[in-house]
Amino acid sequence: MTWRFALKITFTGGKPATSGIAVLPVFEGNKSFGSVKDYIKAGGAQYKDAASAAKFKGKSGQVFDVYAPKGVKTSRLHVVGAGKKDKFDAEMFAAKVTKSLLMSGETAVTFHLDGLDISADDAARAAVGARLAAYRFDNYKTKLTKDKKPSLTTVRVTYDSAAKVKKAYDNFHGPVCDGVIYARDLVNEPPNKIYPKSYAARVKKLESLGLKIEVLGEKKMKALGMNALIGVGLGSARESQMVVMRWNGGKKGAKPAAIIGKGVTFDTGGISLKPGAGMWDMKGDMGGSAAVVGAMIGIAGRKAKANVVGIIGLVENMPDGKAQLPGDVVKSMSGQTIEVLNTDAEGRLVLADALHYANTKYKPAAMINLATLTGAIIISLGHEHAGVFSNDDALAEQIASASEGSGERSWRLPLLPEYDKLLNTPNADMKNIGGREAGSITAAQFLKRFVGDTPWAHIDVAGTAMKNKRHDPRETTFGTGYGVRLLNHWIADNYEG
Ligand code: BES
Ligand code: MN
Ligand code: ZN
Repeated sequence: MTWRFALKITFTGGKPATSGIAVLPVFEGNKSFGSVKDYIKAGGAQYKDAASAAKFKGKSGQVFDVYAPKGVKTSRLHVVGAGKKDKFDAEMFAAKVTKSLLMSGETAVTFHLDGLDISADDAARAAVGARLAAYRFDNYKTKLTKDKKPSLTTVRVTYDSAAKVKKAYDNFHGPVCDGVIYARDLVNEPPNKIYPKSYAARVKKLESLGLKIEVLGEKKMKALGMNALIGVGLGSARESQMVVMRWNGGKKGAKPAAIIGKGVTFDTGGISLKPGAGMWDMKGDMGGSAAVVGAMIGIAGRKAKANVVGIIGLVENMPDGKAQLPGDVVKSMSGQTIEVLNTDAEGRLVLADALHYANTKYKPAAMINLATLTGAIIISLGHEHAGVFSNDDALAEQIASASEGSGERSWRLPLLPEYDKLLNTPNADMKNIGGREAGSITAAQFLKRFVGDTPWAHIDVAGTAMKNKRHDPRETTFGTGYGVRLLNHWIADNYEG
């Protein structure tokens, strides 16, 4: 597999670079370490003069440049205030700097992270920060002139042990980052390019990574009784699909972890049509499924010693003469009937069958689903945290810890029988909406009815998988790839040991 926009990443030991831009982190109080000292030694007076002219104190955000530095072969020294040493985050540092140098005209940048007393893992994450900040989605820009395109193609990271940082990158951060970038592409692609069949075909190609991939069309899904999922796609000219990705890197017979994603390739709302303004964002309503695909790329790429099954339900939600109607009653694969009062509450219908299928067919040790499920979660948590709902405290703890480890923030919200009751209706086993109040919770309660006793969590990523406003330098486009890193941490921490 070759990845689109692959910034070339290399790792070396601590010695001055011989070309491109040398990025030198200097901490508050002008504390410099490792090869930074070598540069200063070589360029001495020139460096000191520039630092004092810039009133450089090493505070985070301060920068100065020494062009054509004497005694070294790099085109310039880019000295960047790295703040307090104990607060240093190599990933964020590299992301900010990459963003600022991306169009600089220079093709190579070297981050000097040797001698800083940071872990190999932290240094490897600098490469991730650079790759995420360099990510662009320019596929459909035909008029970009050269100066509007990134010039940067190579990122080098120096570290005390090149072997250790390379290992940390190759065994975890690199493949996971491949997954994040792949997920971003899926979300950013327009809905005339990514629809259920084209999406499934794209994912099928990932078999080259060693994944076993099965695509179920409508005929198979109908035979399995997946009428809740199929109902959502009735108004679409495009056939619904389900894709099952399997990675068997664990012990033979060990129960898999299951990850399940909502893949509504476009959500018009169906007959319960959404307003036109902003509807274009609903090309991202497959962000949960993109995270699952990206996570599987990470898992396969790093050859995880775990059994994992990834399932995505792919549908396009359209209004049409053939579309399902408010009031329709559908029988889900679980046998439970659902009164579809609002065709725009479609994600839960897709997941009802996907979750039941995952649970009964693969008997997972635990399942986590990701879905851009409710606008209400954006009202609750904005774009900073995803919402977590779980029937299992231990699993919720695992997710909190994976959030901490991956930097992908999440926040748990409650489930309760009182909320569940809001789904009752005289006309079927349940209705697909619970009313205006606690909209994200009633959506989660709905899903809970399809997971049996299996430890399960639902992560509502409506606010985090797609963003139109940004302040994180690692998030450069609408599609963020949220969830890929969290899921990989979760698997690594709980299934690979
Ligand atoms: N895909 C939407 C949720 C969404 C809204 C995601 C905005 C991202 C941004 C989902 O299918 C939906 O339409 N949910 C409805 C549920 C309601 C009809 C109960 C919603 O949130 O309004
Ligand atoms: Mn909807
Ligand atoms: Zn939706």
